[in-house]
Amino acid sequence: MNILVTGGAGYIGSHTCVEAIKAGHAVTVFDNLCNASAESLNRVAAITGTRPDFIQADLLDRAAVKAAFDAKAYDAVIHFAGLKAVGESVAKPWEYYNNNIVGSLNLFAEMRDHGVFNLVFSSSATVYGNPEKVPLAEGAPLSALNPYGRTKLWIEDMLRDMAAAEPRWHIVLLRYFNPVGAHESGLIGEDPGGIPNNLMPYITQVAVGRLKELSIFGDDYPTRDGTCIRDYIHVCDLAEGHLCALASLDKLQGCTPVNLGTGNGFTVLELVRSFEKAVGRPLPRRIAPRRPGDAVASYADATRAAALLGWKAKRGIDAICRDAWNWQSKNPRGYRP
Ligand code: NAD
Ligand code: WQD
Repeated sequence: MNILVTGGAGYIGSHTCVEAIKAGHAVTVFDNLCNASAESLNRVAAITGTRPDFIQADLLDRAAVKAAFDAKAYDAVIHFAGLKAVGESVAKPWEYYNNNIVGSLNLFAEMRDHGVFNLVFSSSATVYGNPEKVPLAEGAPLSALNPYGRTKLWIEDMLRDMAAAEPRWHIVLLRYFNPVGAHESGLIGEDPGGIPNNLMPYITQVAVGRLKELSIFGDDYPTRDGTCIRDYIHVCDLAEGHLCALASLDKLQGCTPVNLGTGNGFTVLELVRSFEKAVGRPLPRRIAPRRPGDAVASYADATRAAALLGWKAKRGIDAICRDAWNWQSKNPRGYRP
């Protein structure tokens, strides 16, 4: 297939480019590099032997989006491009609504105008808000707790409406749980700008000495060790899930939400200890107050992904920690030289 990958230079996008190229697809990346480095695409080329075509442009630039579709006939689009930091979305809501919503609207309009109706969209378990019960199946109630979450929920709503009005659409909404880890080569991985918001990049940067100490946000939750529970999924499993979604698009009419998670929850302390085992030493860490807005537990019911996409996560927490450490120790400053 000829695939356009928006946000393909980013963390999950670059890993998905590797899997897509390995599967024999022709990949074009559309990315403005606002949160990525072109070096990630050099690394994709080093891993696969094939360099994806690259359009450096902004989804907010409608003419550039049109030009991308004028230049090539795509069979499908994987849409990763978006801003993703929850805290930043609270501080800069307009930027998040503009970038994520308007950018997506431009993309969907040009897809429709060019007769491209196959779409895999990066949604998030954030659309389940603060879960009433776990595991979370796709039919669980949806809500959003912050502007970032609202952009995901609203884009999902837009796509549901578009698919209901126009039966030619084949859309899979992939709701990721907590993507972590890195490609086993250590050539690509997560490289957040500034101080990381998420647990795994914080841990890896403490381990490599870029940050002094990990704060564990709360140890008085009603869980087995008092810390919150999440469904950490290896980014390569996640990338493979996109390939399974692409392969299933034909048979999936309309707009189908699918969880991508392992179905297993781990506590913060369990993840930290597993990482310490991978590094071979304890990390400087302390218990800090709870972080406002954190859910006690969130993990997937992954049944639908197996049934509809034939996909199941294969890699466990040890592989996640080994690969995250391999990436960070080989690239202490990420993609910066
Ligand atoms: P990322 O920031 O590494 O990748 C996003 C990419 O999109 C970046 O390369 C960025 O430069 C690009 N981009 C952003 N706005 C753009 C625009 N207007 N035009 C062109 N390119 C633009 O993030 P990621 O972790 O790889 O996430 C990919 C997608 O998955 C995002 O939509 C994110 O919301 C979603 N998601 C991520 C997580 C997570 O924890 N990483 C969890 C659930 C969902
Ligand atoms: C995981 C656990 C923290 C940092 C977020 C978004 C969600 C999705 C994935 C995009 C929590 C604890 C964290 C630290 C800690 N992104 N923690 N110390 O909050 O589950 O999900 O990323 O869609 O929308 O909300 O992930 O990695 O931030 O936190 O103790 O320095 O680690 O309290 O329990 P979260 P996270």
